[in-house]
Amino acid sequence: MVACSAPGKVILFGEHAVVFGEPALATAIDLRTKATLSPSKRWRVNHGPISNPRQKYVKAAVEISKMAGPMDVEIESQIPEGSGMGSSAAVTVAVLGALNSVKDDFKAETVAIEAFDVEHTVQGRASPIDTSTSAHGRAVLVLRRKDSRFLWQINRGDRSWFLHHRDIPQMHLVVGYTGIVGETGPLVAKVKEYAEKSKKARDMISEIGQITIAALEAIGEENYERVGSLMTRNHILLNALGVGHPFLDALVKAVEPYSWGAKLTGAGGGGSMIALTERPAETAKAIEAAGGKAFKVRVGARGMEVMR
Ligand code: MEV
Repeated sequence: MVACSAPGKVILFGEHAVVFGEPALATAIDLRTKATLSPSKRWRVNHGPISNPRQKYVKAAVEISKMAGPMDVEIESQIPEGSGMGSSAAVTVAVLGALNSVKDDFKAETVAIEAFDVEHTVQGRASPIDTSTSAHGRAVLVLRRKDSRFLWQINRGDRSWFLHHRDIPQMHLVVGYTGIVGETGPLVAKVKEYAEKSKKARDMISEIGQITIAALEAIGEENYERVGSLMTRNHILLNALGVGHPFLDALVKAVEPYSWGAKLTGAGGGGSMIALTERPAETAKAIEAAGGKAFKVRVGARGMEVMR
């Protein structure tokens, strides 16, 4: 028997723009998914068939890893599906981590590359930010070229992403989950369509990239007032790109009196928002009062880990 656990993530800055090669910053959070493998007569996931459409990430991971022997896969997750907190990336990374450790090839880079392939297979157009953040943990910065604390490079067609380790301070982030599932694939496709026909959309995407770089500096200086205002601007741009939701706006508004700033996180269209605050209890209360589910998360969580 072998088990691997992998963290969820929140994107602090740069979602959607990162698919076009713009910089983005994500952090692993202390909500995790665990995959346990044990020998079996046929492939099973949570006691059901691996062909179950709900298990498409597990099935694709098994296919990509070329693992021969059938296994019983048990998934336990603390991350709500479609919440913008990286549930599918964490499942994919946990399963691939467990499969690779059976093959004695447990390397974060290998898992990150394979996990991106899985996401691409299941979801379509994507960037490697979610899967690489879950594999590496801590915080991950995506850039167009190699910089200090380089981790690995991932390519797809004419696009290349350079993944980097970053240390970020332990700031108070509260996630507000709408309970509405955001479908990443269609939302990413929608932004692509908009960007293909509109210069305004392309300009907004590049402004999001500039915001990420400005935010990095502000985070380094622990200038949370500035980080918060950059978050709020990033949220406005994501709304203008068409991936917002009125419920997300209501949650962003509800936390305004208690936070430095707030934005949607992940694919949008529902899912979750994050608020940066010095008053996490009041922020969480405001989210719940507005009908959302609040998670006070810790940033910079550990990446994937094998347990034998
Ligand atoms: C989803 O968590 C982040 C997106 O940028 C998609 C991706 O990068 O693959 C919306």
